[in-house]
Amino acid sequence: METTNIDITKKNQNHYNKRYAAVSIKGIEQKLKNLEAFLADATTTDTSWVAMFRNHFKNQLSGKKVLELGCGDCTLSAVMAGLGAAVTANDIADKSGEIIAKINEAALTDIPITFIQGDFLKQEFPPGSFDLVVGKAFVHHLTHEQEAAFYQKIAYLLKPEGEVRFVEPAVNSKLLDGLRWMVPVPGRPSSLQFKKFAIWKAADPHPDRSNSSSHYQKMGLQYFQEVEIIPIGFIERFNRLFPNSKTNRAFRRKAYRWEARFPQWVQRYFAKAQTMVFRKPIAAKTEISGIS
Ligand SMILES: C[S@@+](CC[C@H](N)C(=O)[O-])C[C@H]1O[C@@H](n2cnc3c(N)ncnc32)[C@H](O)[C@@H]1O
Repeated sequence: METTNIDITKKNQNHYNKRYAAVSIKGIEQKLKNLEAFLADATTTDTSWVAMFRNHFKNQLSGKKVLELGCGDCTLSAVMAGLGAAVTANDIADKSGEIIAKINEAALTDIPITFIQGDFLKQEFPPGSFDLVVGKAFVHHLTHEQEAAFYQKIAYLLKPEGEVRFVEPAVNSKLLDGLRWMVPVPGRPSSLQFKKFAIWKAADPHPDRSNSSSHYQKMGLQYFQEVEIIPIGFIERFNRLFPNSKTNRAFRRKAYRWEARFPQWVQRYFAKAQTMVFRKPIAAKTEISGIS
């Protein structure tokens, strides 16, 4: 099991260091300069941003201590700092640290962002260090064992009245999931192209794990008294039918509103992604036991 955790972390590190090599600091600067316009668009047309910023998240940030796990290209960390949060960011990709260093050098945010390199589970922080802990498309890169260790550490680091917010893919229908893998997307062949798919899978940085809403609910409830799972994307997932960029964005905007009118079980069963909100850490579960 230990080897699996190390292997998957190494795979992520290699994969994302390559991917972030091309991240432009200019792109982040532009977003921060036009922050309101960027957020008005992203939080109504991009599933991960809609899901992260739902329920007035933007208004929760000013003056708060926020930890972002798996900060990746660092856009979310920069935006949260731009909205007045004191952000600590972590990623196992060294490139993320280089991006944060450039953001700080150029003083793009009033409060500099603190970057923590490497394995977050080995970092020491006093209990109750953070008001908010967030991650966008992060948890599904962890094995179940790593996920449990992260939740335990987060429950320890979170203030008693704090909140955890993750946005992750949702896989609640085996049928839909099977069909999804059959449709090729740029950079990933169809599961029916057996040889090509096997080569792609060997390099893929995602562990084999559950991303069902019930899994996340069950895991969250082991460390937090309150767990809320909000599904998203069951109509939006058809956006590829609209290749024209303007029409595509208009469709997405409407799709999120249409989805909300359907019963919860429909939204959940066909969801593409989900916001997971954890509150009230269970004190008895916060004894840190190491994992590597
Ligand atoms: C899909 S990317 C998401 C990046 C960013 N949050 C976003 O929304 O664009 C997943 C990120 O998680 C990071 N990651 C994977 N395993 C990790 C671990 N054990 N600790 C910290 N970061 C990790 C990867 O390096 C990558 O940057």
